This record gives sequence, C-alpha cells and structure tokens, in this order.
Amino acid sequence: MSEPAHYPLTRPRRMRRDDFSRRMMRENRLAADDLIYPVFVLEGRGRREAVASMPGVERLSIDLLVERATEAAQLGIPALALFPVTPPEHKSLDATEAYNPEGLAQRAVRALKSAVPELGIVTDVALDPFTSHGQDGLLDDSGYVLNDETVEVLVRQALSHAEAGAEVVAPSDMMDGRIGRIREALEAAGHIHTRILAYSAKYASAFYGPFRDAVGSAANLGKGSKSTYQMDPGNGDEALRETALDIAEGADMVMVKPGLPYLDIVRRVKETFAMPTFVYHVSGEYAMLKAAAQNGWLDERACVLETLLSMKRAGADGILTYYAMDAARWLRETR
Ligand code: PBG
Repeated sequence: MSEPAHYPLTRPRRMRRDDFSRRMMRENRLAADDLIYPVFVLEGRGRREAVASMPGVERLSIDLLVERATEAAQLGIPALALFPVTPPEHKSLDATEAYNPEGLAQRAVRALKSAVPELGIVTDVALDPFTSHGQDGLLDDSGYVLNDETVEVLVRQALSHAEAGAEVVAPSDMMDGRIGRIREALEAAGHIHTRILAYSAKYASAFYGPFRDAVGSAANLGKGSKSTYQMDPGNGDEALRETALDIAEGADMVMVKPGLPYLDIVRRVKETFAMPTFVYHVSGEYAMLKAAAQNGWLDERACVLETLLSMKRAGADGILTYYAMDAARWLRETR
C-alpha cells in the first residue's frame, strides 16, 4: 500500500496562471469574421428611428444604411442581414410587396451592392413584413397559414432578392418544402451561385418580441401565435429532422434560432451534419443584455463577448447579432 498523495499530480491551475499559457490553450476565439450584422431599413432619405425595445439599434433609410454598411465592412464584418420596415400601405393579405422588384428590400440590396460590393448581403425570405396580419404566410379562412400557397410567394420573393444582387437568401418562414422549391427556381433562373441560409430550427420563441416592434409587425400580429409553423421549444430531435430536410433540399448553410436558450441544439446540429452552422442571437437576447447593462448590473462588453464566444464553443460557425458592430470594435481594442 502506497501512501496517499498529499499533492495533486495534475494542477489545471498551472496553465491558467499566466496570460501567455491561457492564450496557448484557448480552444475557441471570437473574431469579426464570425459576425453577421442584422439591420432594419426604412423608406425615405436621411431618416433614422430608434427602436424602443432595443436601445442602441436604429432603423435607417437606405442612404444612412449604406454609410453604416461601409463601417461594418471596415470593421471586418463579412455580411449584413437585411430586414425591411414596410410602410403599412404596402401591406396586404397576399403580400405582393414581398416580390416587388422596386420594393424597399430590393432597392436596399442594389444600393448596398453598388456602394459596398465586398460586404455579403443576406436577405430575409418570409412574408411577415408584408402581410396585414403579421403572419409569415398566406392565411385560409380559419386563419391557418397555408403552406404550399405561401411557398409559391416565397419563391418569387427569393428570386427578386437574387435578381437585386443578394448573394444569400435566408428563408425564416418555416414552411415545409420551401428550400427545395427556392433552390429549383434559383437554378432554373440561372442564379446558381446564390447561397441559401436556411433557418432550419426556428423556434416559436417569445424572444422575438423586440424584433416585431422593430419591423412594425407586432401590432398587426397582436396576440397571434406562430406555433403552427415555428417549432415547439420543448423539442430537440425535431430540429435534427428539420435540418436534414433543408440540407437534402439544397441548403448551403443552416441556422438555429434563438441563440443562448438553444445552444444544445446548435451543438447537436453541428455534430450531426457538419454543415456551416449559424445561430441567431435574437432581439430579446440583445434587449436583456442591454437592459442589464444600462442599469449598471452587468459589464456590457464582457458579457456580450462571453455570450458570443459561448455560441462559437457550442459549435456555431457564425452569429447573427445586433451587437456585431460593438463586438467587432471591442475585439479590435482587445487585440
Ligand atoms: C420573421 C423573423 C423574425 C425574426 C427574424 N425573422 C420574427 C418572427 O419570427 O416573428 C426574429 C429576429 C429577432 O428576434 O431578432 N420572419
């Protein structure tokens, strides 16, 4: 019988003692390359509007958005995700504004591509900014969101984005079969380079509240729920089935949404499919951090960078976050 060791043979704290060895063993890092910057675009010129539930986030008219996009590119952010704020008079039951070649989103894409060509543009494919009821699709008489009829409109919308010059179309609607139909239509129209970023596992989440204020769909939606198409927060396996379908139908990249409450899903999706996997740090997650920071309860910079890093550690290749500009600046300063 040997004597019990008085000292631990392994001392994990050795490697944590100094900055150099902490850096040597750091497994994950956040960089500007990991960030996609979601933005809200308004009609008009020289217009900016604050979003009450997202302090620090503004809706911008195209001219100001171009300036902001130029800064984002200078900070090394690879891509921007565009969300139009549709004037109420352009909303309708059939959402025809979604595929208007002269619509706000389509004009914004053209302006951004001509001013900042190196910045990738991701467009949102879904009907909620364009429907008078705020749902992501067309409704039947009972108020149920019709699947196949909606997909036909989404296809026209995605084509109009590709024609305007968007390199990435991102269906966030959760209709069945939409990735396949959009892929076929893009190929048939010769848009063979247009990438599809599929919101594959998008949950029916309460964390989207501030976003609906930002795009002005909250009032239209009222108490309406999206639970007949977005996923139930209790489900994990279903996220894998949804992702498998989107990949089989031609998605180039997949996404999990929201972020922090769903990092287990990010991990499972990344490990199962080894696809470029993105996560959306959504509006409600931004609002929580911002509110705590504004109250002096949290160190904003440290908590934001830790949150985004946790998403990379979970397996995400990239993160859509309203903090993209701040994070890119903070990362510059820390280096
Ligand atoms: C709708 C859409 C939503 C978001 C992105 N696209 C909201 C919803 O599904 O109601 C939410 C993003 C966020 O909360 O930051 N197609």
